[in-house]
Amino acid sequence: MREGQAQVIHRLDYQAPAFWIATVDLTFDLDPAKTLITAKHAVKRNPAQAHGPLVLLGEELTPLRVLIDGEPVSFRQEGHELIIEAPDRDFELTLRNTCAPEKNTALSGLYTSGGSFFTQCEAEGFRRITYFLDRPDVMAVYTVTLRADKAKYPILLANGNLLEQGDLDGGKHFAKWHDPFPKPSYLFAVVAGDLVAREQRITTRSGKEHLLQVFVRRGDLDKTEHAMNSLIASIIWDEARFNLPLDLERFMVVGVSDFNMGAMENKGLNIFNTSALLASPATATDADFQRIEAIVAHEYFHNWTGNRVTCRDWFQLSLKEGLTVFRDREFSMDMAGSDSARAVQRIQQVRNLRAIQFPEDAGSMAHSVRPDSYTEINNFYTATVYEKGAEVVGMYQTLLGREGFAKGMALYFQRHDGQAVTCDDFAAAMADANPDSPLSTRLEQFKRWYSQPGTPHISARGEYDAAAHRYTLVLSQRNGKATEPQLIPVRMGLVGHEGQALPLQLEGDIEARGTETVLLLEKAEQTFTFINVLVDPTPSLLRGFSAPVLLEDGLSDPELLTLLRFDSDAFNRWEASQRLGLKRILRAVQGGHALQLDHAYLEAMRAVLRHPQLDAAFKAEALRLPDAAYIAEQLEVVDPQAIHASVEAAWDQLAQALRGDWEWAFEAHQVKGGYRPVAEDAGRRALANLALAMLVRESTRTGEPVWPGRAYQQVKDANNMTERFGALAALVNAHAGLADAALSHFHQQFAHEALVVDKWFMLQARAPERDGKVFERAKKLLQHPGFTLKNPNRARSLLVQLCNMNPGAFHRADAGGYVLWAEQVAAMDAINPQLAARLARAMDRWTTLAEPYRGAAQVALQRLAERSSLSNDVREIVTKALE
Ligand code: PHE
Ligand code: ZN
Repeated sequence: MREGQAQVIHRLDYQAPAFWIATVDLTFDLDPAKTLITAKHAVKRNPAQAHGPLVLLGEELTPLRVLIDGEPVSFRQEGHELIIEAPDRDFELTLRNTCAPEKNTALSGLYTSGGSFFTQCEAEGFRRITYFLDRPDVMAVYTVTLRADKAKYPILLANGNLLEQGDLDGGKHFAKWHDPFPKPSYLFAVVAGDLVAREQRITTRSGKEHLLQVFVRRGDLDKTEHAMNSLIASIIWDEARFNLPLDLERFMVVGVSDFNMGAMENKGLNIFNTSALLASPATATDADFQRIEAIVAHEYFHNWTGNRVTCRDWFQLSLKEGLTVFRDREFSMDMAGSDSARAVQRIQQVRNLRAIQFPEDAGSMAHSVRPDSYTEINNFYTATVYEKGAEVVGMYQTLLGREGFAKGMALYFQRHDGQAVTCDDFAAAMADANPDSPLSTRLEQFKRWYSQPGTPHISARGEYDAAAHRYTLVLSQRNGKATEPQLIPVRMGLVGHEGQALPLQLEGDIEARGTETVLLLEKAEQTFTFINVLVDPTPSLLRGFSAPVLLEDGLSDPELLTLLRFDSDAFNRWEASQRLGLKRILRAVQGGHALQLDHAYLEAMRAVLRHPQLDAAFKAEALRLPDAAYIAEQLEVVDPQAIHASVEAAWDQLAQALRGDWEWAFEAHQVKGGYRPVAEDAGRRALANLALAMLVRESTRTGEPVWPGRAYQQVKDANNMTERFGALAALVNAHAGLADAALSHFHQQFAHEALVVDKWFMLQARAPERDGKVFERAKKLLQHPGFTLKNPNRARSLLVQLCNMNPGAFHRADAGGYVLWAEQVAAMDAINPQLAARLARAMDRWTTLAEPYRGAAQVALQRLAERSSLSNDVREIVTKALE
């Protein structure tokens, strides 16, 4: 790991492996201090390379012996390579090695957590278990035998089906598993420990029976019902929507509290961060329930998009991730039900894309959906590969329609089941299945979405000719990170003054297009002329956010207000609310003056809040101000404190001006009866929580005790975490006098629930800064007995929340945030490089900062870069930031 051999890997250097491994037979003698691994591989030469040694990869391993066809052979080690003299024919390779699971704090490979064994092999963890051709295009059939102490590790799991189990001498037992599907090593998994399972037998459409199991630590079983329900719903959905059945007799899901990511799609044995699996009404919020449903679905959907068809190399990561995020989004929208609930999901996706992926795509780590090079692949599990990748997949569906997209999927599986393929293969299947579509003639251009980084900026200018009844729309695109124009589907409509959806007819078209259409912007600039337009229209562009772009349409306030009131597209109604707020914040920030919200804006927000037809969930989204990170992306030079001050002022004024409306909203949206994690109730709770936050904010400002008192009572009495945490957040975020008491009450009540304690840290680290108090508190929390860098969830809940998610607290004129960041990145790097590299990314956008932040950030980066002991993970991030 720290051998200073950081190497840049290039996509175009791909070569097929010199050997294939057809079968793998592994035996584990599990011991936390020293686990012995014996491997038997059937190795075949790739006929294209008839001679030469076999080069396997291994990290942090001790090799014991190497046999070919049962005979010892000579081998040598060079860095992470094990170089074995190999005959010019097929052979059986036997390896023995050890590793040290309990010393493995990087949580990649075989490690222990809470006294049990777990593995994490994506992307390159398998080589930390045994020497291997650890690359996704080497697919083998695995048989795995686990041997361990029976009392300590009563449950022994691996991929596939259980062949045999039984007792051994010395209090040990064994289990033998076989996975019939060839798979790349990154999908390998074993689990051993004292776990309990929720089980369910189901019969799928084909009449096949399956056993579903969710394994967790004793005591967590009551938090697994939601995950099980989500799994069953996912299985049913994938069969119904894409014709993709569950292909294993047994499907297992396991929770672990030390995990670097959300979850992992190992074949038949998904491993989950407990934060992405466990939920009860008492410990999890609506947002948690929703996220768990999405992640359970995501990992399940990988069984086809990722496992049955996998990636040829890691540059193709978005082939499985972008596609699987797209699939889990479609699933979540179908589960949400109503059109309004679907729109709210879309709004949340876009909010997240803008707050995280847009800055990424403009910053030091900018890369295309299919990157061209990397030093450390772990650094490329990014919002670009996942979320922008999902947007790209969504654009296929926009261009092909739902049916055309389904046809493309069917062809993709027909061609590639059992193979390791590329993004080009996916694109070809989509186009070939739809030869008459606009995609098939523009495929090469569409594929620039994979190769070009950067967020395209679209500008739109419309002109109405009242005499000729013509409306001319000029769309142009530019992308500071790329040169070639991209193919951008712009879903749109024209809205009249009274809100009527105007019929669309393009000059030159034979047929009219109804009231909504998709324009294809394919050139740098293009003009679309609509005819027979009888009134001066307001254009509603990029409906549903039909492409991941920044749109500058220059709409006036009256036009935005028209869209906010009337647009038939709920997403664009929301967008109008955001644009109205964004304009005002930007004006104050750029003008260097205090923000003062005008009557028209406040009345528009009041109208949304009081609207008799809009759903509560939608209202909560429309009334929320844009995120600081998205605001920053609109500016050339970023003063984080100016943005912070404006956003806080806007919240204060919304709280004050709408005070009576917030009271009404709070009372009117109380959910009666028991807690159910359904969209409708969740929407009411979201709006009630926002209202409570506003009321506590306003009361704290004026020194009135009633609402803070009610919030405090709700922290104590709520019968579910959503309301309890909402009230706690209201107090903490408003810096209310009762916040401290509420925090300690909450902590005491949930001290034994790690995931709730994470929330407690997170809330304090992410509170809006006021006079440096949030930063000081976060610093103190580093010394809290419950804080540790070793548990990723806990470390993230304090440090990532503070440094990466709370610009107002992090960017300080005294550079205190940057000093703390550099120290903590270094400390974390010695424990867990992957995690440290995430924290390191807090500085991605430092070059756009105003002084004194910019200069101080540079110094902190340089200091960190000077350390000789950095991992490749952190080194790559810091080097790119300084380039
Ligand atoms: N492949 C996992 C997922 O999306 C993410 C992951 C990557 C987990 C690397 C662990 C390590 O779904
Ligand atoms: Zn995934």
